[in-house]
Amino acid sequence: MTDIIPFDQRDGFIWYNGNFVPWKEAKVHVLNHGLHYASCVFEGERIYNGKIFKGEEHTKRLHASAQLMDFTIPYSRDDLNRAKNELAKKQGIVDGYMRCFAWRGSDKMAVSAQHNKIHVAIACWPWPPYYSEEARRAGLKLKFARYKRPSPETAPTAAKAAGLYMICTISKHEAERDGYNDALMLDYRGFLAEATGANLFLVMKNGELHTPLADCFLNGITRLTVIDLAKKRGIKVVERHIKKEELADAIDAFLTGSAAEITRISSVEDKYNYPQASQTTLDLMYDYNQLVRS
Ligand SMILES: Cc1ncc(COP(=O)(O)O)c(C=O)c1O
Repeated sequence: MTDIIPFDQRDGFIWYNGNFVPWKEAKVHVLNHGLHYASCVFEGERIYNGKIFKGEEHTKRLHASAQLMDFTIPYSRDDLNRAKNELAKKQGIVDGYMRCFAWRGSDKMAVSAQHNKIHVAIACWPWPPYYSEEARRAGLKLKFARYKRPSPETAPTAAKAAGLYMICTISKHEAERDGYNDALMLDYRGFLAEATGANLFLVMKNGELHTPLADCFLNGITRLTVIDLAKKRGIKVVERHIKKEELADAIDAFLTGSAAEITRISSVEDKYNYPQASQTTLDLMYDYNQLVRS
């Protein structure tokens, strides 16, 4: 990984609490609530042909995630949308990735931090697809994750909050160490949930598209987009609780996410195999590619 420039050593600008700050100067103090208590929410967005895809939806979700974390972002959605567009232009991004995030600052370092300043920053950088077109068609090898997505009674599961990712990183690391590409997480009831950074879809033998009900994990913006695209093609989409054994009833499977786009799954623990891309998946990949660049 020597060709990747560390993220604190790049050039350009980061929008930080209302100002464009030189990239390397966009720093935080080590004593901040976001770092110690995971009071941080974020968005991952894609820029295609210089335009942020579903930018407003992401801004709306950022605000909603903050509310679920009991804080309010001190910039309106319009302010953030404007800042995001200005930054993408200033950075000269044609195809890239954008992070917009907010966290509690350093005023008080304790569990209770009612009045800590809320900081907001936006960064973007050029980014080729997370997985190449070829890799997205060939598919990923998944391993079941050790950890399960928690119940909404255990955590604010609808928020895109930093704290919810600790089980994702641990699970993905384990999967990678065992020779897989990613981990497939079950939910607290044992139903199929999602991968560590993307939602799950199954192409069933009867031609329908089945996807786990998003009642304890992120209802991804890409997930909703793909459901819409499938319906436009007349494909029946069923959102329901899916048992892990039902992976055997699928002829193909894929993940969706702003980063992953539509990426096929080739196998789950070598027990469930999807060697061939179905026409349904290929059609949806085509439609998604067209849409993001339209
Ligand atoms: C855990 C998790 N689930 C699902 C998604 C997909 O969400 P979206 O399509 O809004 O990017 C993501 C990506 O942000 C994610 O991190």
